[in-house]
Amino acid sequence: MKCVDDFRFRLGQHELVPIMIGGMGVDISTVELALEAARLGGVGHISDAMAPTVIDRHFKTRFVKDKLKLYKENVTNLADKSLVKFHLGELEEATRMHVRRAMDAKQGSGMVFINVMEKLTMNAPKDTLKVRLNAALDAGIDGITLAAGLHLGSFALMEEHARFRDAKLGIIVSSLRALQLFLRKNGRTNRLPDYVVVEGPLAGGHLGFGMDWAQYDLAVIVAEIQAWLKTEHIDIPLIPAGGIFTGSDATAFLEHGAAAVQVATRFTVTKECGLPDPVKQEYFKANEADIEVNGISPTGYPMRMIKGSPGIGAGTHPNCESFGYLLDANGRCAYIDAYNREAAAHPGEKKIKVMDKTCLCTHMRDFNIWTCGQYTYRLKDTSSKLADGNYSLLTAEHVFHDYQFSKDGKVALPSN
Ligand SMILES: Cc1cc2nc3c(=O)[nH]c(=O)nc-3n(C[C@H](O)[C@H](O)[C@H](O)COP(=O)(O)O)c2cc1C
Repeated sequence: MKCVDDFRFRLGQHELVPIMIGGMGVDISTVELALEAARLGGVGHISDAMAPTVIDRHFKTRFVKDKLKLYKENVTNLADKSLVKFHLGELEEATRMHVRRAMDAKQGSGMVFINVMEKLTMNAPKDTLKVRLNAALDAGIDGITLAAGLHLGSFALMEEHARFRDAKLGIIVSSLRALQLFLRKNGRTNRLPDYVVVEGPLAGGHLGFGMDWAQYDLAVIVAEIQAWLKTEHIDIPLIPAGGIFTGSDATAFLEHGAAAVQVATRFTVTKECGLPDPVKQEYFKANEADIEVNGISPTGYPMRMIKGSPGIGAGTHPNCESFGYLLDANGRCAYIDAYNREAAAHPGEKKIKVMDKTCLCTHMRDFNIWTCGQYTYRLKDTSSKLADGNYSLLTAEHVFHDYQFSKDGKVALPSN
């Protein structure tokens, strides 16, 4: 019987353990987590979501405070946020600092990539994305994964960069159609993606499916894409993601021709993960009925999360002057519209509730939206329960090695 370690992920000149830890914003997939994956010979991701905020936390910089100071007068203006722009130079600096923090500390034969969320439109989608992508390349990132919600012209935004052809560039898609569309639009750059993550409906974070997600199956989508690439004679490594919970699940995909697997949920309960420890316990304790896919993200994409997430229904005053990552090209966000609607319906009320949307910037930053993969309810089977009812946190190394070496659908418990 084979295990993941019987396979290798060949990416250009590199030979890697075929395990990639997916990006988890905002700072859930920390630099520390990504570095462990690289040290162990796989691929780790940091996330570029809200990098200025993340950098403020780690370096005591003042990116967020300075932005708020600049636009303070606009905080009460809930009709128009179009003037709340990011300072591109500061965005560039924050992204560079974030990436350097990882790359300067990297050890081992693996790689560190950055997950770039194209749905962060930041009130100037093209300009801000261009800065983020190029700053990550400047700072020496090994690779960039463009997350679902593909802006079809993203490769072109990096075309002029000296590292455009040597850094690894990949995309996440959830259907053959999305891949075909990307390849068609991207043809002009004469550069194929180095890898394609195929993310199925059981993943955490935002989904590339509608609310009918349950009708789709990762293995079917992967097989469909594989068959099409073969008929077109296109050779791109495929990396399935979403619901790959054991080493055996991973091995099955590798045996069917996948180049590697992308996994995330199992790492949310590791010491290196950025979630606060009490939140990690919520992940351990969640049951299947506690997990839902809902429409509260202002991006318009369904998102999976634990139903008890404190950010659901919080009715937070929009914080676009501090954050504003989801403002579209016209300075609009679906949460502001929902907030204004509730405020108008309940005049004079100090604390309003907004149930259908959430202020995602604020609540992802504060770890109040507990986004998770569908199999989060199985995490309790991956650790030991302590006398106080909590579960023992795992190390990233333990989980990584469990994926790498386990067989027969088994999950190794920690030795402590
Ligand atoms: C807590 C959490 C946050 C995530 N955030 C992001 C993200 O910011 N961008 C992204 O592309 N994918 C995100 N994902 C998806 C993962 O990168 C990964 O593809 C997927 O969850 C893999 O499935 P699994 O969690 O069942 O292993 C997130 C997943 C989790 C569990």
